Amino acid sequence: MKWNSNLYDNKHSFVAEYGKAMIDFVNTQKGQKILDVGCGTGILTNELAKNGAAVIGTDSSKDMIDAAKSNYPHLIFQVQDATNLPYKNEFDTVFSNAVFHWIQNQEKLLHSIHNSLGNNGMLICEFGAKNNISQIQTAFEEAAGQKRYIYCSPFFFPSKEEYKLLLEQAGFEVKHIIEYDRPTPLADGEKGLYNWICQFFAGDLLNFSNEEKEEILLETERLCRNSIWKSGQWIADYRRIQVIAVRKVKKE
Ligand code: BEZ
Repeated sequence: MKWNSNLYDNKHSFVAEYGKAMIDFVNTQKGQKILDVGCGTGILTNELAKNGAAVIGTDSSKDMIDAAKSNYPHLIFQVQDATNLPYKNEFDTVFSNAVFHWIQNQEKLLHSIHNSLGNNGMLICEFGAKNNISQIQTAFEEAAGQKRYIYCSPFFFPSKEEYKLLLEQAGFEVKHIIEYDRPTPLADGEKGLYNWICQFFAGDLLNFSNEEKEEILLETERLCRNSIWKSGQWIADYRRIQVIAVRKVKKE
């Protein structure tokens, strides 16, 4: 998917705002080395660096990394594939907010993070849990289906039981794992859901003419109105999984 860093910062800054709470779990003192996986435009990388830790922000999107470098020229940002990171035993903490659900190959992702951490290094992350945005996805699937398009969700939204197993198989000891509902108000009143779908379902919408795209967006809004339009605002049905896990040496 091609990310639009302007739309991301202007309309979806709540992504980083919610992520700030996760930073309280991270040791950000001077001397700590932290990797921010999927840093986007760098808002949280900057927060992680405020107490003196050495932080590197990575993202697979060059557009996002260019925006991050221009926003925070004093910090280090690199374009990297999260499933194939080039680091070995380097970090005290790998941090990630709202990113892992975009990655299909979780075994490769967790292997790559395990390699990047030193022994007893911490993985601290939050992303979409089972049934995240289920109202929106169901409505979009139906609206696109009316145009004979078969929507296949690109997202990985696990339960905490599934993810705990994956973490253990990858050589992590799980210290904390929870799933919770996080109803999320979208910016821009009436246009909030429309903008959100344009940003996050951009890949699917590329398959349609402008006219069809408009019809799908309006139909998705219509189908969602009873469930997630509340008091003049779209409230997206986000569910989160929150993880703190420690890297252990893998037994061969
Ligand atoms: C999320 O942060 O949960 C999310 C964002 C965009 C698309 C799907 C999920």
